Amino acid sequence: MMKAVILVGGEGTRLRPISLMMPKPVVPVLNVPMMFYILEWLKKHGVDEAIMVACYLPHILNQVLKNSYKGMKIKYIYEDAPLGTGGAIKRAQPYMKGTTVVINGDVVTDFNITKMLKFHKESKSRATVGLYPVQNYSSFGVVDTGLNGSIKRFLEKPSREEVGTEKAYINAGIYLLEPEVLDIMEKGRKYSVERDVFPEFIGNGFFGFKQEYIYWLDMGTPERLRKFSTDIMEGNYPLNLSENEKFLKEKGAKVLKPSLIGKGTKLRKNCVIGLLNVIGKKCEIGENSVLENCILFDDVKVGKDCTLKNTIICSGTEIKDNVRLTENSVLGPCSKITQYSKSGA
Ligand code: GTP
Repeated sequence: MMKAVILVGGEGTRLRPISLMMPKPVVPVLNVPMMFYILEWLKKHGVDEAIMVACYLPHILNQVLKNSYKGMKIKYIYEDAPLGTGGAIKRAQPYMKGTTVVINGDVVTDFNITKMLKFHKESKSRATVGLYPVQNYSSFGVVDTGLNGSIKRFLEKPSREEVGTEKAYINAGIYLLEPEVLDIMEKGRKYSVERDVFPEFIGNGFFGFKQEYIYWLDMGTPERLRKFSTDIMEGNYPLNLSENEKFLKEKGAKVLKPSLIGKGTKLRKNCVIGLLNVIGKKCEIGENSVLENCILFDDVKVGKDCTLKNTIICSGTEIKDNVRLTENSVLGPCSKITQYSKSGA
């Protein structure tokens, strides 16, 4: 059994406006909080206690995730001010016991932590970073390792010239740490674990563990939220937590699969819910409206004769009749869209 420290303090600026009124971990994916996918993965690898280091909208986090998930304990540490990824891990140090999994709370993956732990023990590592190969690495932290996996250097958001290869291993945001490695940090100070802390570990029992052919997605932007949702519906992610729920379908309303409709939602006459839509609880889709590849959170009302494509709509939004949105629009919480509004062609 093992503890996991989950960093969930970020404001999620790239996920705005979705993250304006909810922290990233509770953003719904197929109508369940994104964090549930992460907790399921951790549980599968023997984690029995999750420690969330929170800062942004912590009361909402606690309200939604509560104090346990399917038998796994959930504890919360609240930061008064964000201390960066390093400072946040340092805050959790007193709660760690033995080898601890530390993860960025916005990465969804099936990375094999069990194999990584075996490697960590066999290498007598003090800190191990999970590594994942990508081609477009310029927005990630690239990690170079020696033959035995020992880490040689870190390059934050490097250019192609700096790395010199088409493919590179990036920091997957998954770490195994012996708690004492955190002694080098001072309490209450702001640190970036990638920039300020990891470089200090080099040459002192610091290893990278590589995994190929896995699912890995940093859920940092609205496009990636849509990608994750589509991947689950198309079976490209190993877990689907959605359940069929009761909703109202009036005469002539059509639902094409894969799509998901939440409990208490009303589909009015002749509306068409096309492929890859996720509609939350207690929504209403008006007569003759057509939706394709959209994500609607709970309590969204769409009027008559609307066409919505590739649109993400946050809770409490009301769209009046004859609206046409077709260009990757993202509508923030409680938006009001006037009739005949349009975007795209
Ligand atoms: P952006 O603002 O869109 O970049 O997102 P973010 O705020 O989540 O930042 P980033 O993606 O760099 O963060 C990676 C992970 O670390 C996320 O899971 C964040 O929640 C977490 N994180 C970042 N900064 C802090 C912090 O100061 N405190 C805590 N507790 N977690 C943090």
